[in-house]
Amino acid sequence: KDDLVVLGIETSCDDTAAAVVRGNGEILSQVVSSQADLLAKYGGVAPKMAEEAHSQVIDQVVQEALDKANLTARNLSAVAVTIGPGLSLCLRVGVRKARKLAGSFNLPIIGIHHMEAHCLVARLIERELEFPFMALLISGGHNLLILAHDLGHYIQLGTTIDDAIGEAYDKTAKWLGLDMSRSGGPALEELAQEGHAESIKFSTPMKQHRDCNFSYAGLKTQVRLAIGSHNINPEIPISSASSQDRRSRADIAASFQRVAVLHLEERCDRAIEWARKIEPSIKHLVVSGGVASNQYVRARLDHVVKKNNLQLVCPPPKLCTDNGVMVAWTGIEHFCMGRFDPPPPADEHEDYV
Ligand code: KG4
Ligand code: ZN
Repeated sequence: KDDLVVLGIETSCDDTAAAVVRGNGEILSQVVSSQADLLAKYGGVAPKMAEEAHSQVIDQVVQEALDKANLTARNLSAVAVTIGPGLSLCLRVGVRKARKLAGSFNLPIIGIHHMEAHCLVARLIERELEFPFMALLISGGHNLLILAHDLGHYIQLGTTIDDAIGEAYDKTAKWLGLDMSRSGGPALEELAQEGHAESIKFSTPMKQHRDCNFSYAGLKTQVRLAIGSHNINPEIPISSASSQDRRSRADIAASFQRVAVLHLEERCDRAIEWARKIEPSIKHLVVSGGVASNQYVRARLDHVVKKNNLQLVCPPPKLCTDNGVMVAWTGIEHFCMGRFDPPPPADEHEDYV
């Protein structure tokens, strides 16, 4: 396993990422190119623009990942690439690059599920983490609570019935006039520190549903109404807001965050109870995905986990947001189980995917 060296490529959303990881978990390189200027300009991800941006940098990002690892493609054992879920136009850029490289150097190729990668990267950073374990995966497009039985064998305990939490963070940030150049989440987390979390009484979603599903559309609507009633103009960036206006925005940010995360806490609490009925031996809850890089989220979930006598495994922020390491590592996990595809033909037509 130590001799394995896998390149991971990730282009499912707005980040173009590549990394080289060794079978023993050593990260040899890690490169991410984000589309800050596009995000700021469009206030979110525009698929066609994102595809073009990926196409412009993909060769460079992959080359840099190889250079930083002091390797050429010839030294690789396999290429892993995210094949979904995500924006199909964007996914294709990564898949095309992976197939080209694998074809030219006669390397096996491993197609990776983006959310499985968010989940399994936890096993790279916490080597004690054995199946079965639980995972809460929170990103821009997904909210998942799962019981991970074994590699490739996952029981879904809960999912979102409308929006994911990251989407709610992004929209709230946009409506509060925050700087969107690094996605809304981090900017909102920062502003929330200035506000009073109890000042606006948003109601917690799905209180009456005694399941483990999520809903963030209603909370988004509540936020939009609060923004209107506080006379906040999203067109005015927060940097130009008066101090009173800024305070209102911070209060909305803090109140939103409290309830958005309380919803996670309540669902996790119940999911742990459910999971224990299926698998009494679970010891860990993994929390991963972009939103898991939020310090408030981490602290609140740590509390839930401790209360339930479990251990929290939360990858460092750089491995929570989209990255190539998680793809390379999940590739290693699959490769070791013999789950990979043979090298694609070297002369494959460019438009195969
Ligand atoms: O996993 P990820 O990088 O991409 C997807 O798979 O969607 O997650 C991106 C999401 C975005 O919605 C972003 O606003 C959110 O994660 N995010 C955060 C933070 N950092 C990223 N949300 C809250 N607080 C953060 N610090
Ligand atoms: Zn993601």
